[in-house]
Amino acid sequence: MSAENVVTIREYGVKDFVGLTNLVAEFFTFHRRLNGRGPLPPDEAATIIPQDMLQEHSHILVADAGEGKDIVGFCRIELHEGAYFLRELGVTENWRIRGVGTALLRAAEDYIKAAGETNLYLSVIPRNIDAVRFFVRRGYDTINTMELRTEVPEEKVQRKALHFLGLQFQY
Ligand SMILES: CC(C)(COP(=O)(O)OP(=O)(O)OC[C@H]1O[C@@H](n2cnc3c(N)ncnc32)[C@H](O)[C@@H]1OP(=O)(O)O)[C@@H](O)C(=O)NCCC(=O)NCCS
Repeated sequence: MSAENVVTIREYGVKDFVGLTNLVAEFFTFHRRLNGRGPLPPDEAATIIPQDMLQEHSHILVADAGEGKDIVGFCRIELHEGAYFLRELGVTENWRIRGVGTALLRAAEDYIKAAGETNLYLSVIPRNIDAVRFFVRRGYDTINTMELRTEVPEEKVQRKALHFLGLQFQY
């Protein structure tokens, strides 16, 4: 069944704050775990939303599963120095693999097209291989920028070696 049959993609509204807080906590907990870190407490998620997400150049879309139900997914598009970035895209675990992520991504693309743009940029952690596959299959196959960093000491994950462009990296 396609997502259009089960969810509606619409703009974020104030009444979605609690639902968005839960989705944001789940999203960042997922990414922190990939880096060997503990969960993001919901009160910190509630701070991230007004401080980092509800900014003038941000546009948040949510997946609405119908009246009386919590929102089940979200994404945020940010306009940064003239380019549109998909900053987060998350679907709550028990709603995944039903087309909701694709519906949010396509709605984000429609949003930037309506703004007269053709390029949508996004970042994804290489060890999040399911998400890398998800994006590549949907046309996101140009490597635009490589974000590199030095080791963060508190992380406790075993990294794998990667040879690319004649150099050795780890991920
Ligand atoms: C990536 C994500 C947004 C996809 O959402 P979704 O609603 O599951 O997406 P869809 O149902 O539209 O498509 C899922 C695809 O993953 C495939 N898939 C199958 N098993 C899977 C699994 N265990 N985990 C992830 N994807 C899986 C599906 O078959 C489908 O593949 P397709 O390319 O052949 O269509 C969701 O998995 C998620 O929230 N992940 C955690 C956060 C994250 O990684 N976000 C992206 C980085 S910002």
